[in-house]
Amino acid sequence: MRRKLVVGNWKMYGSLARNKELLEGVLQGVNGFKAADFGVCVPYPYLAQVQAMLHGSNVAWGAQNLSQHEQGAFTGAVAPGMLLDFGCRYVIIGHSERRALFHESNDIAAAKFDAAIKADLTPIFCVGETLAERESNVTEEVIARQLEVVLNHAGVSAITKMVIAYEPVWAIGTGKTATPDQAQAVHAFIRQRLAQLDGQMAQGLCILYGGSVKANNAEQLFSMPDIDGGLIGGASLVADEFVAICKAANGAQ
Ligand code: 13P
Repeated sequence: MRRKLVVGNWKMYGSLARNKELLEGVLQGVNGFKAADFGVCVPYPYLAQVQAMLHGSNVAWGAQNLSQHEQGAFTGAVAPGMLLDFGCRYVIIGHSERRALFHESNDIAAAKFDAAIKADLTPIFCVGETLAERESNVTEEVIARQLEVVLNHAGVSAITKMVIAYEPVWAIGTGKTATPDQAQAVHAFIRQRLAQLDGQMAQGLCILYGGSVKANNAEQLFSMPDIDGGLIGGASLVADEFVAICKAANGAQ
């Protein structure tokens, strides 16, 4: 039986004061939720604050990006070991905003994925199609390719060390959620695809849905057999919303 996981992706939002208030609300709200796992992925400068506030709680933390290099003259980049220094468990890799706005290719995402696995961080690897790709009926090909590139690099055993987030690009920050059936269909496809490599590993794999998950649609999404939780953008910045989504995961079968 897979445990549900809910991770907040704060993106480039926050301040020391706002984070404090948000995290206090989240900690109070999820205290005692034992049936699911929770996390937040925050901007780098706030890792120390988040570590200090979440240490010893049932909310883990992580980053939204990392460098594929261990160290060196890479101005502005952050190495995997630096994330470990701040107690990170998770790192988001291949988010569509990184792919589109920062020109990260499948190959760069694969190198970052490898670096995360080597550092014992859990990569939350994002896949998803654009609206144009969905409308041209190539969703499955696009996602299969995104998966293939990382697993070719990292090897099949990485399936036990990763989390996948299916994030249809057209549903991110748009208020347009994939219907539970649409999301379930792609999640089932991802699991079947990976089951061709290793059935047991694929059964244990946690596949999150991301794209306009809110308190009012989380329960329905999380009730689908292959949806193991959510990667939450906007709603993770509002304590009550995020806690309600965590509650839906905690109560889901
Ligand atoms: P929204 O929940 O704001 O649509 O963002 C989803 C997302 O990109 C999470 O990584």
